[in-house]
Amino acid sequence: MKEKIERIRREIGEGMQGVTTRKQLFELKMQYLGKTGAISALSKGMRDLPPEERPAAGKLVGDVRAWAEEQFAAREEELKKEELAARYASEKIDVTMPAHLAGGGSVHPVSLVKQELVDIFAGMGFDVFEGPEIEQDYYNFQALNIPADHPARDMQDTFFIGGDFLLRWQTSSGQIRVMESKKPPIKVLSPGRVYRSDSDATHSPMFHQMEGLVVDKGITLNDLKGMLDEFARRMFSSETKTRLRPSYFPFTEPSVEVDLSCRNCGGKGCRVCKGTGWIEVLGAGMVNRRVLENCGIDPDVYTGFAFGMGLERIAMIKYGINDIRLLFENDVRFLKQFRD
Ligand code: DAH
Repeated sequence: MKEKIERIRREIGEGMQGVTTRKQLFELKMQYLGKTGAISALSKGMRDLPPEERPAAGKLVGDVRAWAEEQFAAREEELKKEELAARYASEKIDVTMPAHLAGGGSVHPVSLVKQELVDIFAGMGFDVFEGPEIEQDYYNFQALNIPADHPARDMQDTFFIGGDFLLRWQTSSGQIRVMESKKPPIKVLSPGRVYRSDSDATHSPMFHQMEGLVVDKGITLNDLKGMLDEFARRMFSSETKTRLRPSYFPFTEPSVEVDLSCRNCGGKGCRVCKGTGWIEVLGAGMVNRRVLENCGIDPDVYTGFAFGMGLERIAMIKYGINDIRLLFENDVRFLKQFRD
């Protein structure tokens, strides 16, 4: 019996040296401690011993079992650590390795212009209001004093959806929504998409506008001019001048067309400004009395100015883009030029 036990201890010790995985360890363990293993066989063999020898033999078998279990458990721990270390080594990431750069995106030039305008006007105390793109006839036309026979109401210009609804033709509709819900003083900026049935090198069926509206006691055209000067200097350059020309919009009276001095020639006249030294950028004016009245604001107490500009147009002037379609084709060779 003793010999058998010694042999088992030796065999386990030797077998253990050849074990490199937990699976091999388990198999070895089963050979000795499994139901049909060598140590279990010893226990069973006790039956054949004379009764007086059994207690001593039982102790020997118990000892070897406890010893073997300890050996296997210790080796199991070691193997676990080794496996973990091997996994760490194989999954190690070298953070100093040069990164594989995926082509980064860039902010679209129209979004860049929008953000810049919002920044400039927010700095002058304007809030931002975004009205709905699907608009009612009332907000897009009637309340803005655009009569039923106005050419803009023609099917050729406006996308009518059906019933009373249309795709808004101008962000000016936002003016009405703001004045209906808020009493003066009002100072809002309303950027957004507008839709017109128009398409060529300078017109797109969908484009972006930015509307501005200021209503308070004692607002004059001079306030408009001062604010536009500040906008022109901040958006383009400190030398940029503004010029107001008489114009007509149903919702403003008087109405003006606003020009900026040409950045390309500094006002001398060139191809960009078609020899005039000026570039037309936006429409504006003093809010028509009727529009104020439509919104329940007393025009004898309050006055206001409004302006509306096309963001694509501003982007085209600012970045020297000659075809509006470049802004919508989303050719990455074009867009990546606007990466910071
Ligand atoms: N809504 C006009 C347009 O789309 C632009 C405009 C002109 C807006 C004068 C205004 C304004 O607020 O006062 O052509």
